[in-house]
Order: sequence, then structure tokens, then C-alpha cells
Amino acid sequence: MSRPRRYAALALALALAATGALAGDRKKHPDGRIDPALLYHNYCSVCHGDQGDGRSRARNSLVPPPANFTDPRLRARLTIDYMDAIIREGKAGTAMVGWKTQLNPAESKALARYVRGQYVEKSGDDAARRGRVFYGHFCASCHGGTGRGIEAAAVAATGAPAAPDLTKMKGLSRERIIASAAVGKPSVGKPGFSQQLSPADLEAVAEYVRLALLAVSTGVSGTSAHGGKASDPAR
Ligand code: HEC
Ligand code: HEC
Repeated sequence: MSRPRRYAALALALALAATGALAGDRKKHPDGRIDPALLYHNYCSVCHGDQGDGRSRARNSLVPPPANFTDPRLRARLTIDYMDAIIREGKAGTAMVGWKTQLNPAESKALARYVRGQYVEKSGDDAARRGRVFYGHFCASCHGGTGRGIEAAAVAATGAPAAPDLTKMKGLSRERIIASAAVGKPSVGKPGFSQQLSPADLEAVAEYVRLALLAVSTGVSGTSAHGGKASDPAR
């Protein structure tokens, strides 16, 4: 996107945000206490979306797009203190401006807590749950409930190809698991599931394989479990 267009888009997004924030005093709950859900709705959802997933009217016009708080890869980074600081000071080089002239420290902290509890934590669990369900449905018949494969007799009975013990495979990155799950290997009878599983579903299944099955046997954990892209997982 050219620079002038980019700034025009930014101005538009800020104007949208301002209409939400300035139409009357929408900050306070009727009884005067801080209402973080209301603050989020009035100041943040125009860019970060009502569900905190970055799907908003502003998304397509901003580079980088507004953060998706429900992305499990951001979970380690989006602590309450980190978000509190970003909300007050902004994030350089992005449309995320600081709000400290409009939100006092208590409000900013309450918002950071709200985003953490409402979006960051809940959706990580949601993705993990979906990953487990998809694995059980699409993968376990060959790879077994633990990723170690199924008994030889069962393999023979189904006529399906014998699947490798995933927990013994070296260098099984997210990308490789996603590719294998999506495309399969028709030459050996391994199906691909790109018709049944969306990109987000494939991510969830790969995350489940790495964190729930591989981590147990290889000790991968935390950010290093994300295919070596730990430096800035947002990009
Ligand atoms: C004009 C659009 C816009 C508004 C309004 C906005 N943000 Fe942002 N926000 C962004 C963009 C763009 C980023 C940068 C995303 C990135 O770094 O990839 C961002 C980043 C962030 C981050 C850091 C994410 C990270 O991974 O480093 C936090 C936390 C955040 N916003 C919280 C909020 C909160 C809370 C509000 C409401 C007070 C808010 N934002 C309002 C656009 C906006
Ligand atoms: C019909 C049996 C079958 C099903 C169902 C199946 N696989 Fe496989 N899988 C195999 C076989 C056979 C191989 C070995 C061939 C190969 O290397 O691709 C394999 C290999 C793999 C590999 C290693 C690929 C590599 O790079 O070496 C991964 C990762 C994998 N499967 C993940 C999955 C996931 C995730 C699912 C569910 C979405 C799944 N598989 C469903 C049979 C299956």
C-alpha cells in the first residue's frame, strides 16, 4: 500500500475510534465504577473487533493489522503488564496509539485484565480443545491417541497404511505437521484433509500435536514449540 493511502486509512480508523469514544461520556458505568467491557467496546473494538480476534472494519486498511488477541501464539507475550504499557504508550510503527490522555491508569489496567481474561486466555483453550477434537476425529485412527501409532494387528485389520510414531520423529515443525495433515501422502495411502479442515483448524491440530503429544516426549514447551518463529510470532 502506498504511503498516502496508508495514512488516509489510518486517519479513517482513528476517526471511527473517536466517534465511539467521544459520543457522550461513554466511559463510566451508571454507578460510577470502571466498566472494562464498555471501555473495550468504545475504544478498542473498532480495530480489534467485538470478539477480540482483529476482525473489524479497520482490519483491511491497517498495516500491520490490529492484533488478534485470540491467536494462541501471542499468549505468552500478552501479559497484563505488557498490554497495560501498550494501551498507555502505544506501539511504535503501528496504528496502535497510546491512550494515556484518555484513559487513566486504573482504566488502562482494567482493560488489560479484561482483554487477558476475555480473549487471550479463553481462546487459547478453545483452540486447544478444537485441536484435540480434530485430532481424535481425523488422525487418531492411524496415529493413535498418543501419536505413537496403533497396534500392528489393528493396522492389518483396517488395511490402512502403518503410520509412523510421531513422538519419535525429529524436527516435526508446525509447518510440517500442517502440510502433512492438509496434503497427506497419497502414494502411501495417507489422506489429506484440506477439504475438511480450514487453515485455522489445521493450525489447531498442529498445535495440539506439538504441545499435547510431542511436548510430552521431547520436552518442547512455550514459545520454542512454535516452529522456531518465536522472535515475533505476530508476523
Ligand atoms: C486504530 C486502530 C486501533 C485501536 C482503536 C486500538 N488498537 Fe490496539 N493495535 C492496533 C494495531 C494496528 C496494533 C499492532 C498489531 C501488531 O503489532 O501486529 C495493535 C496492538 C495492540 C496490542 C499489542 C499486541 C501485540 O501483539 O504486541 C495491544 C495489547 C492492544 N493493541 C490493545 C488495544 C486496546 C486495549 C485498545 C483500546 C483501548 C486498542 N488496542 C485500540 C490497532 C488499534
Ligand atoms: C489413513 C491413515 C492416516 C491418517 C488418518 C493420518 N495419517 Fe498422518 N501419516 C500416515 C502415514 C502412513 C504416514 C507416513 C507417510 C508420510 O511420511 O507422510 C503419516 C505421516 C504423518 C506425519 C509425518 C510427515 C512427515 O513430514 O514426515 C505427520 C506429521 C502426520 N502424519 C500427521 C497427521 C495428522 C495431524 C493427521 C490428522 C489430520 C494425520 N496424520 C492423519 C497415515 C495417516
